[in-house]
Amino acid sequence: MAGQIPRDFIDSLLSRIDIVELIDSRVPLKKRGTNYIACCPFHGEKTPSFNVSANGQYYHCFGCGVSGDALEFLVQYEHLDFVDAVEELSDRLGLEVPRIKSKDGFENKQKKTSLFDLMEKVSGYYVQQLKTQIDTPVKNYIQTRGLSEQIVKDYAIGYSPDGWDSILKLLQTQTNEQQTLLDTGLIIHSEEKNRLYDRFRDRLMFPIRDRRGRTIGFGGRILSEDKSQAKYLNSPETPLFHKGSELYGFYEMTQAVRKIERILVVEGYMDVVALAQYDLRYAVATLGTATTPNHLEKLFRAAPDVIFCFDGDRAGRDAAWKAMDNLLPLLKPGKQGKFMFIEDGEDPDSLIRQKGKAYFEQCIDEAQSLSDFFYQTLLKQVDIHSYDGRSKLIDLAKPYLNKIPPDSAFYLLMKNHLADLAEVGIADLSGILKEPLVMQQQVSAQRNQNAFTPKKQNTKAASPLWKAITYLLNYPELALISGNPDYFLNLDEDGTKIFVRLLDLFQFDPKINLARLLSIWDNPKEEKQLKKIMLEPLLLDDKTAIKNEYLDLLALFVQKKQQRRIEQLQRIDKQQGLTSREKKEFLQLCSRK
Ligand code: GTP
Ligand code: MN
Repeated sequence: MAGQIPRDFIDSLLSRIDIVELIDSRVPLKKRGTNYIACCPFHGEKTPSFNVSANGQYYHCFGCGVSGDALEFLVQYEHLDFVDAVEELSDRLGLEVPRIKSKDGFENKQKKTSLFDLMEKVSGYYVQQLKTQIDTPVKNYIQTRGLSEQIVKDYAIGYSPDGWDSILKLLQTQTNEQQTLLDTGLIIHSEEKNRLYDRFRDRLMFPIRDRRGRTIGFGGRILSEDKSQAKYLNSPETPLFHKGSELYGFYEMTQAVRKIERILVVEGYMDVVALAQYDLRYAVATLGTATTPNHLEKLFRAAPDVIFCFDGDRAGRDAAWKAMDNLLPLLKPGKQGKFMFIEDGEDPDSLIRQKGKAYFEQCIDEAQSLSDFFYQTLLKQVDIHSYDGRSKLIDLAKPYLNKIPPDSAFYLLMKNHLADLAEVGIADLSGILKEPLVMQQQVSAQRNQNAFTPKKQNTKAASPLWKAITYLLNYPELALISGNPDYFLNLDEDGTKIFVRLLDLFQFDPKINLARLLSIWDNPKEEKQLKKIMLEPLLLDDKTAIKNEYLDLLALFVQKKQQRRIEQLQRIDKQQGLTSREKKEFLQLCSRK
């Protein structure tokens, strides 16, 4: 772990960068009054609702609700994590990122930089080595595998020559620098012979790059099908390279695809490269490991849909199950995991070469939803036509369902599906699925706290929130232009919880039948409220007018939330004073009003 970045530094970074310039270089902006506008890069739209404020140094989209400062923009737009975004901005300004404390000795930026430099140099060397090869085994191998010149270039594929000391010679390393080289994993120390030698010899080299395009490790393939050698050799864990969180092809994908709609996760280097050669540039591969929660977070931060593509054999299905298991706790509204299996000993590489891109993408379109994959796998293990089988199904499903965020629409739908399959009532199932007591208390405490307690005058006079709920029930597709439901969680008004849950549910399935919605709603009080609203006539009947009014209501909620935050900051200021970041936030909020 690198040391923490001091907050002061982040504040000073934000005060020096001009957000208008930063965004304009990526999304051309037009001046409108004191603000700048553009069509929002985060959702599809034809008329601009993405606003950048030069005074406040923030952006906000009235269409989808995204907002933030320069760092948040980089995180969202470039798919960087926060630390990478800080480093990117710092580099832009020629600043060094200070770190609070040093644990593993590599926070020292100079040292890390020298590791990066070294990797870059070696990557260039491998590329160079490949270029000098003519009619040699590696060139023949590339030809056999059908890799085009362009793709070799795009992925900086290279060749590690067949010697023991190429890298040492290349870098002419002094003894005191040898540790750095060992730290990159490019060189191995042989205890027996007490000498250093190259890790990668006579292999086709795939550089693995981080999200900023810096080479952090390599994968190397042998040039034959010789079963006595490891087919692939990867860099070991190093200060730069952590196998469990890196994805091969991620950087190349972000370079090739501006707006990443979906990501295909495959197993092999060759799969990623072959798919890219056929112009399917949104595939990435785990590096011979299972799909970890780290991978998943990275993937879902970059795209709403992730399709996991595995072999159709037993091992592939087990790997898919593992990925699904890790995915369950992370499921959020608008995020979708799907599963695709390739049968008959093929893999994505061979399949796209045989059948082409259109066919392959059709297979992606037809990938199994998570819930289908889940229940179909379980159904293979039970006899659904017997009582025993149905009760076993519930037992099997229970530990998994309990991993899903209990307030999510997805949980509701999965639970409902199980009730259908097991032929039990949804209410009975709720009793069976309940968590161990401690968790149960927490959940119910949370539920009670947020539970909807209608105030009489509210339903009559239709508060803005109830109006929004009414529109939403009549036009569920409005949920799709409402942004992240969680944003509204702390609106702190009657109906908040219903509103957020509806958004959540409709974002998963805007076509859901309302009767079905009611049948799976598991709070009788709320259910009654919903029924009542559904029966109320709408005052507006023009769809566009409703959409506009709905958007106005959302803007109002955003405003209210900001007002509440202002008041909160004022209280903090009185009690203990504001940090500089909070001060800045305060000023921004005030300038928005
Ligand atoms: P080829 O098409 O045969 O080049 O391989 P592939 O890209 O189809 O890979 P495969 O499906 O055989 O394996 C998937 C991934 O597992 C590879 O890309 C590697 O990351 C990893 N892998 C495969 N074989 C080995 C091995 O022998 N050692 C290590 N460490 N990893 C391997
Ligand atoms: Mn393959």
